[in-house]
Amino acid sequence: MTVVVTRRALIHAAPLLAGAVSLAGLPRPAPAQAPAAARQAMTGIRLSGNENPYGPGPAARNAIAAAVGDSWKYPIAEEMALKAQIAEHEGLTPRHVLIGDGSSEILHLAGLLAAADQGEVLTAVPTFNVTAAHARAMGAAVREVPLDARMTYDLPALKAAVSPATRLIYICNPNNPTGTMLPGAQLRDFIAGLPPAVTVLVDEAYLELAADVRAESVAARVAADGNVIVARTFSKLHGLAGLRIGYALARPDIIERMARLKLTVASSLGLVAAAASYADLKFQAESRERIAEGLAITTAALDELQRPHTETRGNFVFFDTGKPAGEFLGAMRQKGFALGRPFPPYTNWCRVSMGTVEQMRAFAAALRAHYA
Ligand SMILES: Cc1ncc(COP(=O)(O)O)c(C=O)c1O
Repeated sequence: MTVVVTRRALIHAAPLLAGAVSLAGLPRPAPAQAPAAARQAMTGIRLSGNENPYGPGPAARNAIAAAVGDSWKYPIAEEMALKAQIAEHEGLTPRHVLIGDGSSEILHLAGLLAAADQGEVLTAVPTFNVTAAHARAMGAAVREVPLDARMTYDLPALKAAVSPATRLIYICNPNNPTGTMLPGAQLRDFIAGLPPAVTVLVDEAYLELAADVRAESVAARVAADGNVIVARTFSKLHGLAGLRIGYALARPDIIERMARLKLTVASSLGLVAAAASYADLKFQAESRERIAEGLAITTAALDELQRPHTETRGNFVFFDTGKPAGEFLGAMRQKGFALGRPFPPYTNWCRVSMGTVEQMRAFAAALRAHYA
């Protein structure tokens, strides 16, 4: 049985999903009225969303509790405070920061800008396709360059694909779904060598999970007034995916153009949770450790079973199931695990997100039983 559950289906089913998955990521009974796809995603240990099941951290939980009484106010002060906090940490000004309703909103806005400029968008395949899909829906041409043999963004091929119409290049680093990462220095050189009409959007949703962010980020190109937008999120390391906070770092003129196209404002509870979590270094370090432990358990089982997998820097692993991914996903569902969808053209490969350490032990045992 092939089970395809997209993140978008889950987000659209959000009101029905409320309360369906416990904070530890463990399943609860699905409400009878939930649509079939959402119901399937709820039943089973959830290893499909690249979330952090340990979130929200203690500081974020306290901040949410303390702010509930003020939620009658529009969250202007909270947004300004978060912008200032991020700007200070990055050595930028608040005018270099845009808060989004998740980083998805930032990715949408960048796609919208490219379409508004009647430009073409370049990206890779497979990658996180929100920007490309949105730009395409708004009438922009999108060209996709395959990943290289290591399942990493192919920068020389991307550069060769740049045309006079190219306005935006979307790069996901580390890449979802493969988890592969380009060294920051290589990416910064690539950006610096592009024609001035091209803006590069670097999606760093997973960068702070494993990497030295200062060394590997392209934020330095923002400080240098480059044509670059950095997108980050509180949905991954910070475990706040349900509260929908992300942000962009870019030159103030780019931020202003994106801000003019915004449709929504982030919620006050999301903003205060993000601000508290940003400063909660203990929770961040503990999350990194637990995610690394889950990855070690999972990759050890894959190595033992001789299942090829990528060298991942995300909170997920992409591996060759040795059979059509849909078949494997169905078998895992039978064992109680909800995994990511297939990612063409790698039709035999599958992405597993890190749950808790205990869940990853159970998944490793299920893998061993499956291939026994
Ligand atoms: C690479 C990447 N970017 C952005 C997002 C969107 O995250 P959010 O909108 O929750 O910030 C995701 C979500 O999975 C992702 O994988």
